Amino acid sequence: MNLLPGMANRHGLVAGATGTGKTVTLQVMAEAFSRIGVPVFAADVKGDLSGISQAGTSNPKIADRVKKLKLGDFAFAGCPVTFWDVFGQEGHPVRATISEMGPLLLGRLLNLNDTQEGVLNLVFKIADDNHLLLLDLKDLQAMLQYVGDHAKDFQTQYGNISAASIGAIQRGLLAIEQQGGDKFFGEPALNLDDLIQTDAQGRGVVNILAADKLYQSPKVYATFLLWLLTSLFEHLPEVGDPEKPKLVFFFDEAHLLFADLPKIIEDKVVQVVRLIRSKGVGVYFVTQNPLDIPETVLGQLGNRVQHALRAFTPADQKAVKAAADTFRTNPKLDVVKAITELEVGEALVSFLDEKGTPGVVERALVLPPHSQIGPITPDQRKQLIANSVVAGVYENAVDRESAYEVLKSRAGVASPGATPPAPGQVSGPAPTPWWENIPGMSGGGRGRRGDNMVDAMAKSAARAIGSSVGRQIVRGVLGSLLGGSKR
Ligand SMILES: Nc1ncnc2c1ncn2[C@@H]1O[C@H](COP(=O)(O)OP(=O)(O)OP(=O)(O)O)[C@@H](O)[C@H]1O
Ligand SMILES: [Mg+2]
Repeated sequence: MNLLPGMANRHGLVAGATGTGKTVTLQVMAEAFSRIGVPVFAADVKGDLSGISQAGTSNPKIADRVKKLKLGDFAFAGCPVTFWDVFGQEGHPVRATISEMGPLLLGRLLNLNDTQEGVLNLVFKIADDNHLLLLDLKDLQAMLQYVGDHAKDFQTQYGNISAASIGAIQRGLLAIEQQGGDKFFGEPALNLDDLIQTDAQGRGVVNILAADKLYQSPKVYATFLLWLLTSLFEHLPEVGDPEKPKLVFFFDEAHLLFADLPKIIEDKVVQVVRLIRSKGVGVYFVTQNPLDIPETVLGQLGNRVQHALRAFTPADQKAVKAAADTFRTNPKLDVVKAITELEVGEALVSFLDEKGTPGVVERALVLPPHSQIGPITPDQRKQLIANSVVAGVYENAVDRESAYEVLKSRAGVASPGATPPAPGQVSGPAPTPWWENIPGMSGGGRGRRGDNMVDAMAKSAARAIGSSVGRQIVRGVLGSLLGGSKR
């Protein structure tokens, strides 16, 4: 039974109880994509996916499987791999700017209520309106401090900004910083094209995100992957239904993504998943129980691999029934019974046919992986990181002039006791922005520093908003997807 490359962007689901073979199935699928030149992105929650970089070795179980499946030409081989790590230890650092993350996802990350989220939105807007770049955590912290200190001045133009809300956001940011989030926010930010690579032999590169540590903060893990998925969606051009996917994205421990997800974000996830198909990206959710995934998303997952489920409790039985009901029935197969009987590495499988119709469900033994099952050694990992095509690109963080630096220097130049002109106090058809008074902030050819600032801002803005042009520098990934701002 084969997953057709042309249907691989119709998404999929790999489900099953713990230890039933989900990760190995993911590995086998990722290998197959890599072999036909499709790059893959997968989060590695337990560190056991790293073995995909090495050729496997035989053992009695694998030999048995090779024999049962009559794989005469089976040969062990590893895949080209790039390791990534938000913390920059187990792979190349992955960074995003605060702007790219946007207020909506940040609000989720910080657990903000509606009022607090409203204030965070205002802070972004004020930064936008004043051409202040929000790149790293300290930019946002400086901006919050600034807006908090001048809340009265901003009130007329932007509305009420309560000190309590500012305080809550600040405390949230502090917590993120303590979890190592300061490493994630900043530059050089991830260039998404670096995830879509093939090697000299035309094999797709398998990007593995070291997520064992990230996973300790489930919300950060989920938000990060959500950010990545939405960024890919915004970044990639339309391709319709390609011959094979541009990229396949595996979302392991997918239940975390949807755990108490606010409705507004869930709707956006549903929409991203639906639309990203036409950008040639296949998304595969890997989770224990299919019921972990909202029905609106589940309905879009055309390719299904269901490993064994337990049926001890009534809740278990409900899950089994629900999983069975998602399949197109096969008169020769009692699906409910089979789900509880499947061996490790065996599954009920239904893939889309060339017309996009789900195939009849069949009981199938998953192929053995060509690569190593289980983790690689730290030395092997170090080697691979040092020899990767992006070695040296992301290793050193860059801290260019942005909100923090500008506001700091601004505080420095203000004469003692002088009240700064705030936007709220300026009126008339051509208001002078307050930053015109700051050396280096006014562009307009007033010396090198000004030019650099304008140049830097233009570049960053261009990168942040892609092809769209406008005054609004940034809205973050989800902000520009639905409602509100124009695309
Ligand atoms: N297709 C396969 N070929 C050979 N061995 C397999 C296969 N699938 C699973 N196995 C064996 O079963 C073990 C457990 O599989 P795996 O780690 O994929 O389970 P899992 O469902 O991901 O578990 P968890 O929920 O704990 O992450 C593997 O280490 C491997 O030895
Ligand atoms: Mg697993």
